[in-house]
Amino acid sequence: MRYLTKTAAAENIATQCLILGVFDDKHPGASITGLSATARKSIQMALKKGDLGEKSASTLMLYGLSGFKAERVLLLCLGEKKSFDGRKLASAMSTAVALLDKNSTRDCTLVMPEELQKNGEAYSATRDLVIAAEAQLYRFGQCKSKKNHPQKPLGKLTLLTQDRKRANTLKKALKHGSAIAAGMGLAKDLANLPGNICTPSYLADTARKLGRKSTRLKATALTEKQMQRLGMGALLSVSRGSREPAKLIILEYRGGKENSRPVVLVGKGLTFDAGGISIKPSANMDEMKYDMCGGASVLGTLQACAELELPLNVIGIVPSSENLPDGDANKPGDIVTSMAGLTIEILNTDAEGRLILCDALTYAERFKPAAVIDIATLTGACVVALGHHTTGLLGNDDKLADELLQAGKDIHDPAWRLPMNEDYARQLDSNFADLANIGGKGAGTITAACFLGNFTEKYKWAHLDIAGTAWKSGSDKGATGRPVPLLMQMLLKRSKQTE
Ligand code: BES
Ligand code: MN
Ligand code: ZN
Repeated sequence: MRYLTKTAAAENIATQCLILGVFDDKHPGASITGLSATARKSIQMALKKGDLGEKSASTLMLYGLSGFKAERVLLLCLGEKKSFDGRKLASAMSTAVALLDKNSTRDCTLVMPEELQKNGEAYSATRDLVIAAEAQLYRFGQCKSKKNHPQKPLGKLTLLTQDRKRANTLKKALKHGSAIAAGMGLAKDLANLPGNICTPSYLADTARKLGRKSTRLKATALTEKQMQRLGMGALLSVSRGSREPAKLIILEYRGGKENSRPVVLVGKGLTFDAGGISIKPSANMDEMKYDMCGGASVLGTLQACAELELPLNVIGIVPSSENLPDGDANKPGDIVTSMAGLTIEILNTDAEGRLILCDALTYAERFKPAAVIDIATLTGACVVALGHHTTGLLGNDDKLADELLQAGKDIHDPAWRLPMNEDYARQLDSNFADLANIGGKGAGTITAACFLGNFTEKYKWAHLDIAGTAWKSGSDKGATGRPVPLLMQMLLKRSKQTE
C-alpha cells in the first residue's frame, strides 16, 4: 500500500473514506476539534444513536455525512481514552484496513489522533500502524492457481495532521514502517514457499536478485567445493544426506564508512528439516519448511537496510541446506571436524542447525564484526520455555543483549534472555570428540546456545532462537516475518534514525 501525509482540514479532504478515531465514552477526542460546527454535529448525532460499539476496533461506517467532502466517514473506536497509545491505534487500524480492503474503498485518510502526538509517540505509532496494516494485507497466493484477491483492494492511506513539522516525523515513520514491512513480506514469502521450491539454490538466487537491485548490496554464494576448501566439515556433513547442494550465502550491505566494523547477521537456512537419520515424527513435519526462517529474516533485514540507505555496514550470512535421511547422511555417533578445528560427535542428526551455524559463525570472523547476531529456529525446547510470543535471546555480551531486548520492546517484537554458563556447557562433553552436538535432558535452548558459544569467542555475539515466533501453526498457518522488526529497530537505533 502507498502511504502519504497531508496537512489540511479533515472536512475538506476528498477521500473515499475518512477515518475518525473515537474513544469508548463516545468522545471523538481531539480528532474533531478542528471541524466546523456542521461537521461536528453530524458526528455527534451519529454517536448519540449508539450504533458504534465500545470495544476497541469497533467500527461504524457513515455515508453522505453533511459537512464532509469525504464519500464515507468511518468511526473507529480506539478504546479507553486513559490507556490509549500507539499500539491501540495500530491494532484498531488493522481492523479498519481489513474492512476497507474488502469493500470497494481504494483510498482512505486517517485523522491522526492528537492525543498520541502530544506523548511524542507519533513516530513509533505511525511505524507500528504501517507494519500492522501491511500484515493485515499480506497474502501468500504464489502457489494457488486461482488468486483470491479482492476486486478493489485498498491501495492508499493518507495520514492527516494539522502540524507541518509533525508531518515530517510521520513521513519518516511511514518510510521506515514500509521498509520494515516489505522486509517482513520477503521473509514471509520465502518461508511460506514449500521446500521443493525454496531450496538452498533458490535462497541464493533471491540474494543475488537483491544484490542486483541495489548498488550497496553485493551477493555471493559459496558452493560445496568452496566450503570444502575452507574446511566446513560440520556444515557439509548435514548436506551430504541431501541431493540439493548446500550454499553459504553472503549478502553485504555497505552504507557506512569503509573502515567501520559491520554488524553481521547469521541466519539458519535449513530449507527442510526431516531430522536426518534421527528422523522426526511425521505429524506436522510440513512445518519444517520453516526451518529457514532465520535466513529469510536476514535477507528481509538486508533488503530493508538497502531501501532505507542506512549509514551502516551490515553483512548477512545464510548457511543453507536440507536435512534428510539418506545412505550418505550423518549417522548418530559420526564425528566431523568444523572449520574452527573443533571436532563434533553427532549424537542426534536432528540437532543440525548448530552444525551449519557453527561454520558460518567461524566464517563471520573475517568481517571483523562489531557484533554478530545469529537468528535460528534452533530448538523445540524454546517453544516449551517461551511459547509463541517471545523470542529466546542468549549471548556472550550483556550490552549487546540489552540492546536487542530494548529493540524488541520498542517495536513490539519481544525477546527474553536465558542464562548461559559453564554448568550448561559441560552438558556437551563428549567421550570421543571435542564436543557433542546435543546436551542431554534439560535446558535444550541453552545447551544449543552453549554449543554455538564455542565458535563465537572472538567477537560480541547474541543468539536469537525464533523456533516459537517465526511462524504460526493451525488454521492461520503462516510465517510471521519476525524478528525483522527487532533487527531493524536495533539497526535504525545504531544509525540514529529513530525518534
Ligand atoms: N529445527 C528444529 C527445531 C524446531 C523444532 C523448531 C520444532 C521449531 C519447532 C531443530 O533442528 C531440531 O530438530 N532441534 C532438536 C534438537 C534436539 C535433537 C537436541 C529439537 O529441538 O528437538
Ligand atoms: Mn533438526
Ligand atoms: Zn532444524
